[in-house]
Amino acid sequence: MERTVNVACCHEWGEPGSVLRVEPWTIAEPGPGQVLVEMIAAPVNPADINVIEGRYGKRPPLPAAIGNEGVGEVVQLGPGVESDPRGLEKGQWVRPVPGVGSWREALIAEPGQLTPLPREGLIPEQAATLCVNPPTAWRMLHDFVELRPGDWVVQNAATSAVGRAVIQIAAHLGLRTINLVRREEAVAELQALGADAVLVEGNAKLGPEVEELTGGARPRLALNGVGGQSAQELAKVLAPGGTHVTYGAMAKVPFSLPAGLLIFNDLRFVGFWVTAWYERASPDEIATMLETLADLLRDGVLTVKIEARYPLTRAREAVAHALREGRRGKILLEI
Ligand SMILES: NC(=O)c1ccc[n+]([C@@H]2O[C@H](COP(=O)([O-])OP(=O)(O)OC[C@H]3O[C@@H](n4cnc5c(N)ncnc54)[C@H](OP(=O)(O)O)[C@@H]3O)[C@@H](O)[C@H]2O)c1
Repeated sequence: MERTVNVACCHEWGEPGSVLRVEPWTIAEPGPGQVLVEMIAAPVNPADINVIEGRYGKRPPLPAAIGNEGVGEVVQLGPGVESDPRGLEKGQWVRPVPGVGSWREALIAEPGQLTPLPREGLIPEQAATLCVNPPTAWRMLHDFVELRPGDWVVQNAATSAVGRAVIQIAAHLGLRTINLVRREEAVAELQALGADAVLVEGNAKLGPEVEELTGGARPRLALNGVGGQSAQELAKVLAPGGTHVTYGAMAKVPFSLPAGLLIFNDLRFVGFWVTAWYERASPDEIATMLETLADLLRDGVLTVKIEARYPLTRAREAVAHALREGRRGKILLEI
C-alpha cells in the first residue's frame, strides 16, 4: 500500500533558508529485494549544509532528499530479502548511504544502500552520529602515520565533533594531543575530554609554545579541518617528514605554504574523505570499525554532544541553528 512520508529535500541548490523544504513524498511497499526503513534520528553536519549549498564533493540528482547520516530501523522486508547474503532483518538499525537521504520519515531501499549499525547498548543519538565523525577521527589516527603511545598529534577545529573524537580516541590510544580552538571558553571543556594541551589560535606563537609543551618533541601528524592561516600554523609545528591531513575547510579560505616547509622539512600534504574510505572498504572492515567505535561509546570513552533537538518538520530551523557561532554540540533531527 502506498503512503506519504515527510522528506527534507531540495529542488535546487542554494542558501538553506530558501531551498530546504519539508514535503510529502509517496513511498510504496518494499518490492523484491527491498526493505522499508523508518528513520529515527539524524544529525545536521557541515557536509549536509555544503550539499544544500551545492558545494559538496558529490551531489545527488535533484530533487534530492538531504541527510548524509542518521539511524533508521528496518521495519518490513520485501520478498527475497531474508535470503540476501547481506543479512538484513527486522529491527536492524541502519544508516542510508550518502546520496539516499536520511532526513526523512521513511524510505524504501535495497540492502546495498544501507550500512548496518550496531544497536545493542546504544541510544539513537549515538547510532545516528556513529558513521561520519568518529570514523574520520579513527581513520586519520590510524591510516597515515604509524603512531606510538606518547606521540603527539596536533589539530585545529578541536571543538568540532571530529576534533572531540580525535581527543578522546587519541587519549584512549595513549597518544597526546595539542588542540587549537578559536574560543577561550572551550579550553576547560576540551581538557576535561582528555586534551593534553588546548591553545587559542592567534594568542601566541605556536612554535615556541608547542616546543615547551612537548619538551622539544614535535608532532608527526597534523589534522586540518579549518584551512587558511590555521592550516599553515599546523604545518609549521610538524616534525620533519611529518604528515598534514586536510579533512575539512570550515574557514572556507585556501592555505598557502612557505616553500621552505616543503624543501627543508619534507612535509607530506594529503587529504581524507570518509565517504571515499567507505567506498573502498569491505563490509567486514566497515562492520569491524563501527563495532570498535560502538564499544568506545558503550564504555564512555567516546561521547556525543547534542546542543539541540528539532522535529523533522523544523529542518530549516535546525540548519539555521547549526550555522550559529559558538554552538556547543550537534543539532539532532528527531524523526
Ligand atoms: N573529510 C571527511 O571525511 C570529513 C568527515 C567529517 C567531517 N568533515 C569536515 O570536518 C569539519 C568539522 O565537521 P564536524 O561535523 O566535526 O563539525 P561540527 O561539530 O559541526 O563543528 C564545527 C566546527 O567548525 C568550527 N568552525 C566553524 N566556522 C569556522 C570558521 N569560520 N573558522 C574556523 N573554524 C570554524 C567550529 O568552531 P567553534 O566551536 O569555535 O564554533 C567547530 O569546531 C567540517 O568541515 C566537515 O565537513 C570531513
